[in-house]
Amino acid sequence: MERKKFYITTPIYYPSDKLHIGHSYCTVATDCMARYKRLQGCDVMFLTGADEHGQKIEDKAKAAGVTPQQYVDKIVEGEGGFKSLWKLMNISYDRFIRTTDDYHVEAIQKIFRELYDRGDIYKGTYKGKYCTPCESFWTESQLKDGCCPDCGRPVVDAEEEAYFFRLSKYADRLLKLYDEHPEFLTPASRVNEMKAFINQGLQDLCVSRTSFTWGVPVDFDPKHVVYVWVDALFNYMTALGYKNDKYHDVEKYWPADVHFVGKEIVRFHSIIWPAMLMAMDLPLPKRVYGHGWLLLEGGKMSKSKGNVVDPVVLCQRYGVDAIRFFLMRSFPFGSDGVFSNELLISTINTDLANDLGNLVSRTVAMVEKYFGGTLPAERESAPADDELIAIGNELRNNYEKQMEAFAFQNGLAEIFKLVSRANKYIDENAPWVLAKDETKRARLATVMYNLLESIRLAGILLKPYMPESAEKILDQCGAAENERTWESAAAFGGLHADVTVQKGPVLFPRIDMEKELAELEAAAAPKEEQKVETAPAKPQIAFPDFEKVELTVCKVLACEKVEKSDKLLCFTLNDGTGKDRQILSGIAKYYKPEELVGKTVVACTNLAPRKMMGRESNGMLISAEQGESLHLLMLDDAIPPAPSCAEKAALKAS
Ligand code: ME8
Ligand code: MG
Repeated sequence: MERKKFYITTPIYYPSDKLHIGHSYCTVATDCMARYKRLQGCDVMFLTGADEHGQKIEDKAKAAGVTPQQYVDKIVEGEGGFKSLWKLMNISYDRFIRTTDDYHVEAIQKIFRELYDRGDIYKGTYKGKYCTPCESFWTESQLKDGCCPDCGRPVVDAEEEAYFFRLSKYADRLLKLYDEHPEFLTPASRVNEMKAFINQGLQDLCVSRTSFTWGVPVDFDPKHVVYVWVDALFNYMTALGYKNDKYHDVEKYWPADVHFVGKEIVRFHSIIWPAMLMAMDLPLPKRVYGHGWLLLEGGKMSKSKGNVVDPVVLCQRYGVDAIRFFLMRSFPFGSDGVFSNELLISTINTDLANDLGNLVSRTVAMVEKYFGGTLPAERESAPADDELIAIGNELRNNYEKQMEAFAFQNGLAEIFKLVSRANKYIDENAPWVLAKDETKRARLATVMYNLLESIRLAGILLKPYMPESAEKILDQCGAAENERTWESAAAFGGLHADVTVQKGPVLFPRIDMEKELAELEAAAAPKEEQKVETAPAKPQIAFPDFEKVELTVCKVLACEKVEKSDKLLCFTLNDGTGKDRQILSGIAKYYKPEELVGKTVVACTNLAPRKMMGRESNGMLISAEQGESLHLLMLDDAIPPAPSCAEKAALKAS
């Protein structure tokens, strides 16, 4: 039988900053869904990636003094980058697309041209507002208090020759899509937002830019680059091989079963994306799910607000599975949730350490103590078993219903119904009392079996959420390979009768809330050396201004204290001209004159002369001052003295 296909995607993230726990939230949910579908036996394609073009990236790279490509390479592939975070978090993506990949760039050019040839892209003039951080165009009427309605940041005026996509043409078909396919966009509340947006009057979309170059060039009009969202949205198809030869999976996986996206980009995924697909006569994705945001004390987590939570720190402290579990357990996927350290620690303590961890460790310990680790075959059931068994029998069905609705929190709630019931079952049946009575051996064995079987069922269905811990749980309760499958979770009683348990280390250690909160706060506080007062940045200067500055490599020939001054040192320097140069410098507090003789320093040598304490100073030595300390800039002594501007000095020196 051919396996069912399941194609699921996360958004492709902007490599403009490190990822925070809010980004991990969507990716963990997607991973959880992908693993759930694999557990069911589906042939899964799980795509994620990086959205690497656009003005924002170009600006950031410029500020960092590197090329845009170097900039994104580092954030995506580098240490602590996207890929390493997903590895740490056990994200089982099947494919990772970077929009700077050649195959994608070529495909976008072909798509843009085809839309143009079909008449759905045309040339016009763009006048409006642009939000650079969001890479979004807005009309005046869409602004909120004059700012970007998505992020609240200021927008800039934009006017230029541009290509437009005939989005307006698709308004009716989009409304029809939502009505005829209520499953296309969920949760349902998002549909109302989209309808309202369309009913305001859908305008054609500006899909090219000429004001920057970091993007996919329009091949038939190369001063234009393709609007980053057109470039980005088609990733879901180019990554399968659409309009390229890198992959050949369009037939197999398109249309996507679901795109998981954050609520602020639902508009792009449920209006622009289907409209472009309609224009290309391509099948539409089956579903778009707009999840909520993780908030932090009243605001969305965002790097620019400085209120981000670092997933790496959390994973290192509490373990990847605890963090994955927390994200899925604590917030309903469709709504916003408020992240806090207290909530994180109490969730780990209550659900993982107390309820689940304890159930496993108590049960395994009792099987060891009462039966030497292996259950005998005798059984004696009792009405006291019925409720537990009934919950176990229903579990997979109930769980499946929740998972199919992307209700990750409820999927876990189903599992924890069984876990709680099992804990109660221990107290009700008091195995320690049964153990004292030789005639109750069969009954005791039954109680222990029912507990192990409950653990097994929970372990199987926890696999998508906590892949590593779930296997450890299954190891401890002695489940065989074929007792860890989706099929084997259909009903209660699948664990083999003479099962042998395997004691293991504590799965989820309890955390001391107070101590931990204090440590987390300390870790979040700025470090001492970062508190160094920095002077406010000076306004930019143009290159010709900078060029006027003559920086010269000099050798210190002599150095002495200036009489009656406790600040000044007087330097006699060889600046390479053959004539000695005298410079006064206020660094007596930091250096003894004799230790500077023979050193190679850098001086600005075209500063107008000035007199201090009766002596003339012809220039200024360059040093770094930080709070209480000062360091004279010194070069390798192999560098000869030479008058020149900085760049030339660097060249001559080598
Ligand atoms: O939007 N809580 O990229 P992006 C929950 N490149 N989700 C959050 C979040 C938070 N605090 N912060 C961010 C882009 N996200 C585009 C996507 S897709 C063709 C192009 C989610 O890096 C956010 O909702 O700004 C979005 O879904 C995703 O992270 C990527 O954000
Ligand atoms: Mg965003």
